[in-house]
Amino acid sequence: MNELNISGKIPKQIRKWTCHKLECFSDYIEAYTRTLDNNRCCYLELYAGCGNCICKGTDCIIEDSALRALKTETKFAKYILIVRDSQDADSLKQLTASYDTADIKIITGNCVNEKVLQQAFDLIPRSASSFALIDPPGYRKLRWSTIKKLTAHGKDWKGHKIELLIIFPLEMALLRNLTRPECEASITRLYGNRKWQEIKQKRLKGKIGPDEMRRQLVKLFKAGLRGLGYKYVEDFKPASPSSQPFYHIILASDSKRGAKMISDAWGRERYLPCELLYSRKDRP
Ligand SMILES: C[S@@+](CC[C@H](N)C(=O)[O-])C[C@H]1O[C@@H](n2cnc3c(N)ncnc32)[C@H](O)[C@@H]1O
Repeated sequence: MNELNISGKIPKQIRKWTCHKLECFSDYIEAYTRTLDNNRCCYLELYAGCGNCICKGTDCIIEDSALRALKTETKFAKYILIVRDSQDADSLKQLTASYDTADIKIITGNCVNEKVLQQAFDLIPRSASSFALIDPPGYRKLRWSTIKKLTAHGKDWKGHKIELLIIFPLEMALLRNLTRPECEASITRLYGNRKWQEIKQKRLKGKIGPDEMRRQLVKLFKAGLRGLGYKYVEDFKPASPSSQPFYHIILASDSKRGAKMISDAWGRERYLPCELLYSRKDRP
């Protein structure tokens, strides 16, 4: 493993569920790249981290999603990673340096900013297929307008739009803030409309319970993706480590293959790197 540049926030501290998410992502992206029938697919990560994380409690250092995407047996044509600041960019540059055969572009800036996103689009040839991982640090950072821009970028030679794997932040913050007036604007920005307020009202009037509210909030977001023209929009509630996960997986694609790959990756019980029985060979 590469040496770390430990400077306050690097590597970022994570909890066990994030480690679980990353392990699942490794399996997913490995399976995804195996389905690529040419190597012209670009990998785009909107909320890339600094490359490594440290797990709270175990001090286990693990690679984050960008490094995992670089490790697949079949490679993407290009890796475009958008990081928030220069500190993350420097760390990621350092940690990806050993992958010098891969075409890696690191963009620094706020990924919801039009100009920053445009820098990424400029790197993706119009006819190339592309896959985007959207893993925001909370619902406030994700905007529907960004999803729309990704979709509007164009279609590949097969007529497929950019494939989106969204780690939908249906965590306590969104559920707790649903009834707070000061959070209305950020929730509307997330959905791109005010229909979420109908769900809130049903919950406030006791017409639906918390689980049904969760289900409807995911369903509403999926409806938006279908409205953008995606043929297949799937969601998945990850299995363990927590019974009520902090996020949902949402996949928007014009190809049918994704749903099984998601349930294979996120649906099975697994051991984590800090656990005695963990073995990379366990992977299907
Ligand atoms: C939930 S983490 C995901 C990191 C990485 N995908 C992983 O799996 O470890 C979210 C990351 O988004 C970055 N971030 C936050 N706001 C951002 C923004 N507006 N534009 C780009 N990145 C941002 C944070 O620095 C953080 O590393």
